[in-house]
Amino acid sequence: TPDKEPLKPGDILVYAQGGGEPKPIRPEELKPGDPFLLAYPMDPKTKVVKSGEAKNTVLVVRYPPEELAPEVASHGVEGIVAFSAVCTHLGCIISQWVGDKKAGLCPCHGGVYDFAQGARIIAGPPPRPVPQLPLKVEDGVLVAAGEFLGEVGVKAEAGFCRHV
Ligand code: FES
Repeated sequence: TPDKEPLKPGDILVYAQGGGEPKPIRPEELKPGDPFLLAYPMDPKTKVVKSGEAKNTVLVVRYPPEELAPEVASHGVEGIVAFSAVCTHLGCIISQWVGDKKAGLCPCHGGVYDFAQGARIIAGPPPRPVPQLPLKVEDGVLVAAGEFLGEVGVKAEAGFCRHV
C-alpha cells in the first residue's frame, strides 16, 4: 500500500502526531533546545503520508548551529537536523527527549543518542548511530533532500549466520 512506501528524496516531512490534515513542518516552528518532534514523509504529489512503515519514522530537532558537528550541520538547515527514529538496538522508536543532554532516549533499553554529534551513543546498548536524513527547505517547509545516510533500523550482523 502507498503508505508503506519507503521515504524518497523530495518527500515533505509532516507531523506524526495530531489527526486531521497532514501538517508539513515549517522551520520556524522549531526552536533550539526544544525536544525533537516525530515526523513521517509525505509524497508531494499524491499527498499520501507514509506512516504505515515504522522505518519511515523520522525525528527532527533544532540545535544552535554552533553546537552541531560540521558534518551534521552540513546535512541540515539552520541548525535543524533529522535522523531515523528507529533505534539500532532492537528497533523501538526513539521517543523521549533528555533535555539536560540534548539527546534522544529509546525507552526500551535506555539507549541515548546525541544528535548534535551525529547520533553518537552516549548510553545504553545501541551498536551504532541512527542514520541522518539530509534536509532542505522548499516552499517554506522541510523536505527530505536525499536518502538516509546509512542503514535504517537493526542491522544483520556480518558473520552472524555462518552455515552457508
Ligand atoms: Fe532501543 Fe533497545 S531497542 S535501546
